[in-house]
Amino acid sequence: MESIDKTATKAAWVYNTNGPYRNVLKLDKEFPSETSEDFKPDDILVDVVAMSINPVDYKLMQTYKFIGKLGFKYPVIPGLDFAGKIVATGPDVRGLKVGDHVWGKQAVHRYRQQGGTLATRILTDTKCVYPLPESVSFNDAAAFGVAGLTAWEGLVEHMKIKPGQKVVIVGASGGVGTFAIQIAKALGAEVTSISSTQNLQLCKSLGAFHTIDYKSEDVVAKLAETGPYDFVFDLINDNGLYRASSKFMKLGGSFYGIASDISLSYIGSVMSRKLRPKILGGSSHPYQDFMLASAPKTIKEFSEFAVANGINTVIDSVYDFDRALDAFDRLASHRSKGNVVIKMD
Ligand SMILES: NC(=O)c1ccc[n+]([C@@H]2O[C@H](COP(=O)([O-])OP(=O)(O)OC[C@H]3O[C@@H](n4cnc5c(N)ncnc54)[C@H](OP(=O)(O)O)[C@@H]3O)[C@@H](O)[C@H]2O)c1
Repeated sequence: MESIDKTATKAAWVYNTNGPYRNVLKLDKEFPSETSEDFKPDDILVDVVAMSINPVDYKLMQTYKFIGKLGFKYPVIPGLDFAGKIVATGPDVRGLKVGDHVWGKQAVHRYRQQGGTLATRILTDTKCVYPLPESVSFNDAAAFGVAGLTAWEGLVEHMKIKPGQKVVIVGASGGVGTFAIQIAKALGAEVTSISSTQNLQLCKSLGAFHTIDYKSEDVVAKLAETGPYDFVFDLINDNGLYRASSKFMKLGGSFYGIASDISLSYIGSVMSRKLRPKILGGSSHPYQDFMLASAPKTIKEFSEFAVANGINTVIDSVYDFDRALDAFDRLASHRSKGNVVIKMD
């Protein structure tokens, strides 16, 4: 491995204290970059070409006062997703070399200790990356990490979807939902999407069999008509829908949620879903909540499945690196269709 100049810098968006992103997130064009001394044997240094931001990035940035610093080293660089080019590899790296194009999801311990991916350069390791498929652009792969892998883990690893099963996706037009519709369809499921009026056509075009408009339709009545369902993949934490699940789910059907929020009201709603008996207004269908795990095996399986099945990243918008705050405005509006991408050059 060639030695890397100790004075090397990179551009990075950083925060030194928690709060709303417009108040705390600043661009540092001379943030110290990783040097040879930071390398572990299977580490990889990547020049980031594109990354995608996710709700977890602004949630963690603004909610520290409730949860403490969670082991983060400050200043923090947000971001977990990336696609880019390898510029250096550690001595134990096999199967990847300088110049290769890769996509990945930064490991959480690295995110906490050395920073995330909203930077022009990151240090990561072989477990977190996979070669960029030829047919996939940097912008498209930039959203595979959190949104793509969460959809994959939910449907494949947790629900273990089988052909012919019926699944409802709530919040279907966002980053995770647009991947989830396509993956569930490719697995042979019958997909029902729940979105606002303006996104019905998008959900249909991605493979939804039934599209329900939560703005103008009675969602529970519509689900009762089109069900019964094996699974609900709830991306928005819809308590009302969970409580009504007996009206549209099969006996033995399950509800899966991911819309984790770092707040007491969220924790309360999850506890109530898990513990409240039916007689007190709970549901007879089990509720499961999961966090993205992104094992190396999952990264490989998802990448290969996406190429084989023509899974496309739906990109809401692409922002230049120096307009990251505008990108966060778009994401935090809760109206983005698909993924919000930031490109580095
Ligand atoms: N647990 C984990 O490991 C994990 C991983 C990834 C994401 N998450 C969480 O999962 C949630 C979804 O993430 P995401 O990236 O998909 O979010 P996102 O891209 O910000 O979702 C935006 C979409 O949400 C839709 N939406 C908003 N309110 C809705 C409603 N009442 N009913 C149906 N759709 C609604 C909007 O569509 P309309 O304009 O049509 O309403 C918009 O298209 C977030 O809370 C995120 O933090 C958790």
